[in-house]
Amino acid sequence: MRYTTLGKSGLAVSELCLGTMTFGRATPEDEAIHMMDRFLADGGNFIDTADVYVDGTSEEIVGKAIKEKRDQVVLATKARMRTGEGVNDVGYSRKRLMDGVDQSLRRLQTDYIDLYQLHVWDHLTPLEEVLRTLDDLVRSGKVRYVGCSNFLAWQIMKGLSISDRRHYVPFISVQPQYSLVHREMDRELLSLVKEEELGFIPWAPLGGGFLTGKYNAAERPMEGRLANDKPGEYNWEAKGSARNFEILAVVEEIAAEIGKTPAQVALNWQLAKPEVTAPIVGCRTLEQYDENIGAIGWRLSEEQMERLEQVSALPKEYPNRFIERFWRPLNEE
Ligand SMILES: NC(=O)c1ccc[n+]([C@@H]2O[C@H](COP(=O)([O-])OP(=O)(O)OC[C@H]3O[C@@H](n4cnc5c(N)ncnc54)[C@H](OP(=O)(O)O)[C@@H]3O)[C@@H](O)[C@H]2O)c1
Repeated sequence: MRYTTLGKSGLAVSELCLGTMTFGRATPEDEAIHMMDRFLADGGNFIDTADVYVDGTSEEIVGKAIKEKRDQVVLATKARMRTGEGVNDVGYSRKRLMDGVDQSLRRLQTDYIDLYQLHVWDHLTPLEEVLRTLDDLVRSGKVRYVGCSNFLAWQIMKGLSISDRRHYVPFISVQPQYSLVHREMDRELLSLVKEEELGFIPWAPLGGGFLTGKYNAAERPMEGRLANDKPGEYNWEAKGSARNFEILAVVEEIAAEIGKTPAQVALNWQLAKPEVTAPIVGCRTLEQYDENIGAIGWRLSEEQMERLEQVSALPKEYPNRFIERFWRPLNEE
């Protein structure tokens, strides 16, 4: 396992982060604990959860698994979604965040969170209030670093500039959806990540399982994460497009050439991208974990990376293509 620092901080995290969204529902508790033990034994130290995953059960299971090894783990969690019936049980008010951290700490059986992330942009709470609260949480010792997830580039930049002006702790990382079948972040966020030296920890690096190659283009699946018609990111309409199957075909071709699996190739593509700090991989079973951990310890060739880039890159849109047209070197060669 290799390590890298998260954004501009000195916090060392493993090149893979373990996602825990299924823990307590699709992944039974025993298997989840076993998986976390294996991950730590394999050198992983970065674990991502959220207060809403399985109504708090994911945090509880993570808490049990890491209790005796708390100092080995970089523990990331999030807040924002509704956690109760009350009018303030959602969003980022000072009340919600202060109470939310205490509830997460209880479930996680710890007295600090390494990375506390804003789960998705909220238009109701002024960013000034949110960032002041996060700063107070860091000063209190309950939180060590802060980050955000599912924000637009301008929202992150606005947050960074408020933190800078007010001397609040800044976001050190961003957590968007990003994979070979979801490259929307290439349009704007990646240049912000480079410019501001933010940690970039993509969720759903396997496209919710699509890039494992277990789905068939000809038919709507009967099982697996994508076999549902609930609105959102995880359904056949969101992932099973003809374009995505073209991307998958190249992933499968490369996997066959080098004796790896499509999931390993899709994850390795992320590991090789300089902007990516650590993809957050989801493993429902130990068997999936064993396959996915095989994504580390080797590298795709430049030629294979190029084939993956070509098939998955999004067409250039305005204003990116306009700006690129006028890019100019200072000295002509
Ligand atoms: N910030 C956010 O808004 C946000 C949103 C979503 C997730 N996340 C975080 O990101 C983590 C990962 O997200 P994700 O679960 O969508 O990631 P993913 O890694 O793209 O998909 C994981 C799912 O794919 C299937 N899968 C994984 N490995 C497989 C293998 N080797 N063979 C066959 N199927 C395999 C499993 O589902 P099935 O077996 O059921 O098909 C598994 O649950 C989450 O746990 C969470 O920590 C964050």
